[in-house]
Amino acid sequence: MNSESPELKNGMIDIHCHLLPCVDDGAKSWDITIEMCRMAQQDGVTHIVATPHSNYEYRYDRGLHAAIVQELRSRVPGMSFSLGCDFHLSYENIEDAMDHPELYAIGDTRYILVELSEYSTFNVAQTLYQLQTTGLVPIITHPERNPLILGRPESLTEFADAGCLFQITANSLTGFWGKTSQRMCETMLKKNMVHFIASDAHGVKSRPPILSAAREKAAKIVGLAEAEKLVVSNPAALLNDMDLIRG
Ligand SMILES: [Fe+2]
Repeated sequence: MNSESPELKNGMIDIHCHLLPCVDDGAKSWDITIEMCRMAQQDGVTHIVATPHSNYEYRYDRGLHAAIVQELRSRVPGMSFSLGCDFHLSYENIEDAMDHPELYAIGDTRYILVELSEYSTFNVAQTLYQLQTTGLVPIITHPERNPLILGRPESLTEFADAGCLFQITANSLTGFWGKTSQRMCETMLKKNMVHFIASDAHGVKSRPPILSAAREKAAKIVGLAEAEKLVVSNPAALLNDMDLIRG
C-alpha cells in the first residue's frame, strides 16, 4: 500500500460532534471545547462540524449556535468548523424542517444528520422520504446504537432505498458500545453501507473526538483507501455540497 496516497495528505473531517460549550450534553465549558479541539487536531482531524442536539431536551437555536461557532473560529484558528444539528426525528422537528430546511442542514449544504427514535420505526422510511422533498439528504446517525434497528437490521435497506446515507460512530466500531453494535458496524462496512465515520464526541473522557482508531479498524475490514473515504473524502464532498458516490 502506498503510504503517500493523496487522501492521506488530507486531514480527517468529523461531521458529528457535540463540541459547543453549554448548549447540550456535550462540552460543559469553553475549556473542554478547546481541549476537544486539541485532541481532535492531534488525532489528525482538521475540520469539525459542531452538531448540537435538537430534541425534547435541548432546544436548537441556529442563530445562537452560529455565533458560538464564530467565536470558536477565533479561539481555535488552527482548525476549521461548520455548524450542523443532531436532528431528532420527532414530529415537531420534522414540521419545522419542512418549512425551514436550511436551519438544520450542515453549513449551507443539503445534508442533515438524523437521529431515529429508539421507540418506533413506524412510517420512518416515508418520513425520511418526505424530508427529502425539501432538498435535504438525510444521514442516519449511529444506526448501530438504535435498539429497533439492531432488532430489525433489514430496516437499513429500507432507509437506504428511501435515499438515506449512514454514519456510524467511531467508538462503536472499536467496541465502546458493546459487541452487538460493533458487529453491526462491521457488517455494514462489509456491505458497503457506511458513508461516514464520526465521533459523536461529548467531551474528552468517555466519548472523545477521536477518529483514527476507528479508521484503522475499518481499514482492516475494507482496506485503507475505503476507510479513508469515510473520514476524509466523503465528509469533504459533503462540506462542498457535492453528490456522494453511494456504495
Ligand atoms: Fe450526537
